[in-house]
Amino acid sequence: MEDFSFQNKTAIRFGKHHIDEELHDAVAQFGQKVLLTYGGGSIKKSGLYDRVQEALADLQVFELSGIAPNPKIDSIRDGQKLAKDHDIDVILSVGGGSVLDASKVIASAKFYDGDAWDLVADRGGQSRSNIDQLPVVDILTLSATGSEMNAGSVISNPDLNVKLGTYGPNTPAVSFLDPQLTYSVSKWQTAAGSFDVFSHLAEQYFDRAKANDVTSGIIEGMMRSVIKWGPIALAEPDNYDARANLMWGATMALNGIARSGNKNGWTVHPIEHELSAYYDITHGVGLAILTPRWMKRVLSDETQARFARYGREVWHLTGDNDLDVAQRAIQATYDWIKSLDIPMILPGVDINSEEKFVEMAQEAVRIGRLNQNGGYVNLTVDDVTALYHDSMTTIGFE
Ligand code: NZQ
Ligand code: ZN
Repeated sequence: MEDFSFQNKTAIRFGKHHIDEELHDAVAQFGQKVLLTYGGGSIKKSGLYDRVQEALADLQVFELSGIAPNPKIDSIRDGQKLAKDHDIDVILSVGGGSVLDASKVIASAKFYDGDAWDLVADRGGQSRSNIDQLPVVDILTLSATGSEMNAGSVISNPDLNVKLGTYGPNTPAVSFLDPQLTYSVSKWQTAAGSFDVFSHLAEQYFDRAKANDVTSGIIEGMMRSVIKWGPIALAEPDNYDARANLMWGATMALNGIARSGNKNGWTVHPIEHELSAYYDITHGVGLAILTPRWMKRVLSDETQARFARYGREVWHLTGDNDLDVAQRAIQATYDWIKSLDIPMILPGVDINSEEKFVEMAQEAVRIGRLNQNGGYVNLTVDDVTALYHDSMTTIGFE
């Protein structure tokens, strides 16, 4: 097990009854001027917007709406201006990971006078950890990213075809997690979110650290949970237990617990971020298409024991031959993804040309340091290009 530090200060209010009773005080403890951030309108359709306005009726509420999936730097710039112009005290972020991610960067940008992209790209040494950050309270409406209990954000700059991760000094101050709010999430986003959770677990499970049974066991349990409840949420969108397990699973998968004692080199995320950056596809779907191909590519004499453990503990596979169990585990992963009605090939998300693959692979390898021990198994630009290529067809899986 590796050395680690762990601290997470987010106050979680999980379940059916917290929002109406506690939202006002959770926000007002930080001041009177609130920036309410949200996305394309799902919160108006569901009635949540009205509930929030009612709860905050005696506070001064300013709004930033229209934060898009794969949030764009322009929304951050707009939020930065609002936060400065109105001397905002606290951000209330209502939505999925995209709204939360954008809000956390706006929370930093209030204290920065230059272009907000500097903060995302760490341009000119502008690390966000060196500047202040407004408190963020959030109401999560989609189970996927874990943004509700971590310090990360992923922001896109369409002018540069770049999507980058950035980390602030703080996790959200208070996160309201009511699984009922996710009943209205579409099948597509439910499947994508479930796979995003699975991928966060897989990125932390297939790790170079040795003998970390505590973390491995926690991850295996959480994998079994998302494998079980994802399909149930798809079949019965208002099944509370399914939505609750997906929501808490999403939060727990990426709040620091599942990385403790690991080396933490992620591989598939940097490779997917290039797909989202170039083609603006749904993050979880990109991960779902890439992951089984990645597993196949990194399966070797060195890794097969780990994949076999994954097969036995997560998929309940039996047999003494590690390679055989490992291969069946990878196929089981593929079959489960397919059962979520996720397209299994890149043309299924309208990526029909291989033209950009080398360029994207170069960026993924550079940003993820994939050929320098940055991931689980080193990958070269050629490997990543081949991985994108493998994702164009179902060859090898069915
Ligand atoms: O914009 P609205 O109208 O709200 O609609 C959204 C959006 O179209 C809709 N939605 C959200 N809640 C809903 C709902 N529709 C009906 N009912 C509800 N209750 O869902 C669509 C997708 O929302 P989005 O926030 O984009 O989804 P998600 O939570 O999956 O976030 C994805 C983003 O997070 C980043 C991804 O790269 C991507 O940009 N990530 C953030 C991470 C982090 N902060 O730690 C880690 C992840 O690996 C990930 O990279
Ligand atoms: Zn993710």
